[in-house]
Amino acid sequence: MPPEIGLEGWRALVTGAGQGVGRAIALTLADAGAEVAVNDVVELRADEVRDEIRGRGGRAESAPFDVTDWDSVQAGVDRLGDVGILINNAGNAGVDGFSALRPFVETDPAEWDRYIRVNLYGVMNCTRAALPSMISRNGGRIITVVSDAARYGDAFLAPYAAAKAGASGFCRSIAREVGRYNITVNCVALGTIRTPTTSRPDADSPENVEREKQQLKKYIIRRKGEPEDVAGLVGFLAGPSASWITGQTYPVNGGYSFAL
Ligand SMILES: NC(=O)c1ccc[n+]([C@@H]2O[C@H](COP(=O)([O-])OP(=O)(O)OC[C@H]3O[C@@H](n4cnc5c(N)ncnc54)[C@H](O)[C@@H]3O)[C@@H](O)[C@H]2O)c1
Repeated sequence: MPPEIGLEGWRALVTGAGQGVGRAIALTLADAGAEVAVNDVVELRADEVRDEIRGRGGRAESAPFDVTDWDSVQAGVDRLGDVGILINNAGNAGVDGFSALRPFVETDPAEWDRYIRVNLYGVMNCTRAALPSMISRNGGRIITVVSDAARYGDAFLAPYAAAKAGASGFCRSIAREVGRYNITVNCVALGTIRTPTTSRPDADSPENVEREKQQLKKYIIRRKGEPEDVAGLVGFLAGPSASWITGQTYPVNGGYSFAL
C-alpha cells in the first residue's frame, strides 16, 4: 500500500505556483490536506490556482510576491504567520526560457544576475523567512526544485546551472543546521518537464520536432516529464513518511542521468 501523505494541519507555501510544476505541486499538497499559500510574482496566476484548489474542495490562499525581493518575501511570510512546508519552486532559465541557449563565452556578466537572483537568492530569501516558524513548531519540510543541470552541468546554460547547483549546496548546508528541529531539507532535480515555459509556440515545425526527437533519445523513458511526475515525489517528501530523509537531491528525469 502506498504511504499516506496526510498533510492536515500543515500550511504549505509553494513559490512560483501559478503555472507548470509549482501549480501541480500546490494541487497535490492541497489534495493531501495542506492549506496551501499559492505564491507567484504574477498575482493573477496565483489567484487562479487558489481558486482552482478551492474549486476542488481544498484550502488555499493567494500569496503574491517576488521571491527575489527580501522585504516582500518577509512581509508575505509574516502575513501567513506559520509555514510548516516550504516548496522553493520559483525559478527561471533567464528571460527567454530554456530555449535561449548561449555559449558562456558570449554572455555578458550583467546577464548572470537574472539567473542567480531567482534560482539562488529566491531560495535563500524564502528559506530565511520560513525557518523561524518551523523552528518554533519543532518540525518542517523544505523542498527545493532544482535541475539536472545542477548535478550534471548543462552546456550553454552555465549561469542557470551554477545558480541551481548553488541552491542544492545551500539546501545541504541548511539540512545540517536544522535537523535538530526535525526539519528536513531536500531537493528534486528535474529533467525536461512539459510546462508553459518549455512548450514552444513553434513546437510543430519540422526543425523542432527533429530536435525534440534527438533530445528524447537521451531519456530512458522516452517522453518529456509532466508536472505531476514531480508533484508525487514532492508530496511524499513533504509528508510524515519522509521524516528521516534529508540533505538529498533526487533526480526526476526519466533516467536522463542517475544518482549514485
Ligand atoms: N520545466 C522544466 O523542464 C524544468 C527543468 C528543470 C528545472 N525546472 C525548474 O522547475 C521550476 C518550475 O519550472 P516551470 O517550468 O514550471 O516554470 P514556469 O516558468 O512554467 O513557471 C514558473 C512560475 O514561477 C513564477 N515566478 C518566476 N519568477 C518569480 C519570482 N521572482 N517570484 C515569484 N514567482 C516567480 C512565474 O511567474 C511562473 O508562474 C523552476 O525552478 C525551474 O527552474 C524546470
